Amino acid sequence: MKLKRVLQYAQDLLAETIQPGDTVVDATAGNGHDTLFLAQLVGDDGQVYAFDVQKEAVNATLLRLLDEGLEHRALVLNDGHENVAQYVTKPVSAAVFNLGYLPGSDHEIITKPNTTVPAIEALLQLLTVGGIIVLVIYHGHAGGKEERDAVLQYVSNLPQKHVHVLQYQFLNQQNDPPFVVALQKVKELPAQ
Ligand SMILES: C[S@@+](CC[C@H](N)C(=O)[O-])C[C@H]1O[C@@H](n2cnc3c(N)ncnc32)[C@H](O)[C@@H]1O
Repeated sequence: MKLKRVLQYAQDLLAETIQPGDTVVDATAGNGHDTLFLAQLVGDDGQVYAFDVQKEAVNATLLRLLDEGLEHRALVLNDGHENVAQYVTKPVSAAVFNLGYLPGSDHEIITKPNTTVPAIEALLQLLTVGGIIVLVIYHGHAGGKEERDAVLQYVSNLPQKHVHVLQYQFLNQQNDPPFVVALQKVKELPAQ
């Protein structure tokens, strides 16, 4: 047995949770790799909501979906994930965040704690019992450690009777490798 790499582990969590027909969220569409992965899992009766603040990312994501003929399974929104509740009203079985900047693009446009944490909070309300939120936390860039710490602080204080919180991380790798935080709702949260 080989220990799973971080990105593989994140994908496996999503694949094991998502069923055909589900509503799911890609909170950071970027180049659309996760949006496509989610679109493949939800099937023709499901729906992916993908968010990105960069038009360039929205276009790249749409192109990737079109290439695979799966554009009808996803709504790609040029808006911040902190506004998720304005678009998504159905229960969500899974959501994924890749924190950081869009590879090959402007390194100044990064996810930030003051929008990431409210987005997680909003998604926890929308999440089904048994549903998961997977965060892939990149923290090597400027601003990354502040966001990592804010997210860890928030998720570590979630009530354990309602949300199970897991961290999957290689501790002896060099150069700030990404790690996974997964949240699974196990009991409805009080409405906010
Ligand atoms: C690490 S990249 C995502 C990579 C992507 N998952 C992929 O498969 O290519 C992070 C993305 O988050 C986006 N972003 C930054 N702030 C955001 C926000 N408030 N809401 C949604 N997306 C945001 C950036 O524009 C960037 O494209």
